[in-house]
Amino acid sequence: MRTGLQGKTALITGASRGIGRAIATALAAEGANVVLSSRRQESLDEVAAELRAAHPDAGVLAKAAHVGDADQAAACVEAAVEEFGGIDVLVNNAGTNPYFGPMVDLDLARAEKTVQVNQFAIVQWTSLAWKRSMAERGGAIVNIASVGGMVTEHGIGYYNATKAAVIHLTRQFAVELAPVVRVNAIAPGLVKTQLARALWEPNEEAISKALPLGRLGEPEDIAHAAVFLAGDTASWMTGQTLVVDGGSIVRPAIA
Ligand SMILES: NC(=O)c1ccc[n+]([C@@H]2O[C@H](COP(=O)([O-])OP(=O)(O)OC[C@H]3O[C@@H](n4cnc5c(N)ncnc54)[C@H](OP(=O)(O)O)[C@@H]3O)[C@@H](O)[C@H]2O)c1
Repeated sequence: MRTGLQGKTALITGASRGIGRAIATALAAEGANVVLSSRRQESLDEVAAELRAAHPDAGVLAKAAHVGDADQAAACVEAAVEEFGGIDVLVNNAGTNPYFGPMVDLDLARAEKTVQVNQFAIVQWTSLAWKRSMAERGGAIVNIASVGGMVTEHGIGYYNATKAAVIHLTRQFAVELAPVVRVNAIAPGLVKTQLARALWEPNEEAISKALPLGRLGEPEDIAHAAVFLAGDTASWMTGQTLVVDGGSIVRPAIA
């Protein structure tokens, strides 16, 4: 079955590297126009140049925005609509983790930053995309959560709490925006990106051995799931969170 993404327009936050970049690349390969956003324009311009070279027919726009800044978010959504006439797919991917440690030592400033970027930004960008384009045009939203939103982990408890919120926001928006827009999420396990480097780099072999599928995730593993959820391939799915984790959460509790 085809994804039907050819000629559609997808806006991806956090598209300059890692999972977001892989998702943008995979959507462009499906023939979608892609709007790349993250904080640094130069990094986005590099990704945009690569995508234009690889997919000369795909429209590519690079527009910097801090996901937590309402004005920058609105300007990015506006730029996408001006350039391509509307938004069909929104991928809420940008994420951050400014704190590692026990939750009892977490300070308010870093807690607020985590909520702003991982949690409220999803509400903000969904609202903008809906009001500016999707309410009329329809479409699909893919939120990037984490398996950490479903289990406990040392050191990243509050980050994971915001990811649990993403899973619930996905259900709530699925109901509020139905039947016009489908809203689903992906819960990745440990993926080899900059964000998670401190978690995987020192222990890659040991962690890989403990996973049923024997390896850590690559950004492309998540991109494949994002294309599926964004496309007609998932046309009867909404409110769901697809776990893509090499089997980490189905590991036996006692090996
Ligand atoms: N890697 C994993 O193991 C893993 C597992 C589960 C879930 N996830 C989730 O997957 C998503 C992507 O993470 P990743 O692993 O690909 O991380 P990454 O390689 O560090 O990429 C993060 C992206 O988000 C952008 N970004 C960060 N803060 C931003 C902000 N305030 N405003 C706009 N853009 C911002 C970054 O660009 P700039 O710095 O230029 O803004 C970059 O493009 C996140 O939501 C993360 O929580 C990752």
